[in-house]
Amino acid sequence: MTATRPSDDPLAANLARWEEQVDIHVGSDFYRMKEFLGGESSLDPIVLSEIGTVRGKRLLHLQCHFGLDTLSLAREGAEATGLDFSPKAIAAAEKLAREAGLDARFVCARVDDAPAKAGTGYDIVFSSWGVLMWLPDLGVWARNIAACLAPGGMFYLAEGHPITWTFEDESERIEENFRIVRSYFLEGPQQWENAHDYAEPSVALTHFRSNEWQHTLGEVVTALAEAGLAIEFLHEHDRLPWPAVPGMVRVDEHYFMAPDGAPAMPLSYSVKARKA
Ligand SMILES: C[S@@+](CC[C@H](N)C(=O)[O-])C[C@H]1O[C@@H](n2cnc3c(N)ncnc32)[C@H](O)[C@@H]1O
Repeated sequence: MTATRPSDDPLAANLARWEEQVDIHVGSDFYRMKEFLGGESSLDPIVLSEIGTVRGKRLLHLQCHFGLDTLSLAREGAEATGLDFSPKAIAAAEKLAREAGLDARFVCARVDDAPAKAGTGYDIVFSSWGVLMWLPDLGVWARNIAACLAPGGMFYLAEGHPITWTFEDESERIEENFRIVRSYFLEGPQQWENAHDYAEPSVALTHFRSNEWQHTLGEVVTALAEAGLAIEFLHEHDRLPWPAVPGMVRVDEHYFMAPDGAPAMPLSYSVKARKA
């Protein structure tokens, strides 16, 4: 994997990559589609234990991909809307809703257009796992979340910890991969060239470029606070739903952790914030 600065529209390259990934992900073991159709929730224990009750709530899921989590939230009783900028992902989400016999609305739009395209007055805005690195401006993101929420409404985010971007990933001694060797503070976008699909590693992607922003934890919390949201908690966790660093060990059907011998590090975090 290499990173440089992109010369063309950064979001267009990302969209092409995400469009290619939809069919691969729908068929992958990583997303556990069969289990979802059999009645299992796709939501992981961190999210399920922290989000609180969604039953009867108007909920907006930002960057919903092909709708698995949106539909799991609908199954829990939320009046759910999923938003994603990939037309293929939205079509797959609508098909999945029909297959699962669940009711949810899906909107094809960029996060930057969420209030205009998905509407406002939501009780909950939700976003999780692998979302923020695709967004150029967290100030815009947070102001849009605030605009979408009704007064008293809640925002919940679970995300990979930005410290994982700084770790060594090429050492032959696996436990050494948890040493900091790269900058935490990096101006984006960084252009990555990586044909590897995170859910289906055997597939080589044609659209191997992506443009990503390495937002720090401080930026995330500050953007939400500046948009008028009161932070209720910021939790750091020792596990993550994907192996962000080579050598991470699968501990159950939801998470990977650092191997024995590696120093304990935060690998993910979650934030809950509320509009006054
Ligand atoms: C890792 S996935 C979503 C996370 C979800 N937990 C999952 O794995 O299904 C990231 C999603 O963000 C979407 N995305 C990326 N940039 C976006 C943007 N600017 N506006 C809306 N959606 C975007 C992609 O299409 C993709 O579906």
